[in-house]
Amino acid sequence: MSLKVSHHLLLCVPNKTSSLCSNLAQSKQSWEQLKFILKKLRLEEPNRPEGIVLRSKVDCLRICKSGPILLIWPEGIWYQKVFPNRVEPIINRHIIKGQPIKEWVLKNTPLRNLGNKVH
Ligand code: FES
Repeated sequence: MSLKVSHHLLLCVPNKTSSLCSNLAQSKQSWEQLKFILKKLRLEEPNRPEGIVLRSKVDCLRICKSGPILLIWPEGIWYQKVFPNRVEPIINRHIIKGQPIKEWVLKNTPLRNLGNKVH
């Protein structure tokens, strides 16, 4: 059985020894908040009709001065300054309602449509 995936969330939580991020403590707290909210809203249930929401902790997304950064696929939306208090609104509006919070978006890098035919 294949797993249906709704979104994949990548949050930078840098390795202390390798990063220039000035918000290391905030990144760690945002990661804990992200885990808590996804569990609370049951978004990690494998049988969720819309698909499961995956999360990954990544070391650095190379925009440290705007961090913590949360990158959401498949839209390719990069949220900046994702402090713990921004996590729940992003999940509620972007993931559940499908309405990204434009004021907090740093950039948008959508994947090309892989369904296009090659001519
Ligand atoms: S630690 Fe570099 S982008 Fe967050």
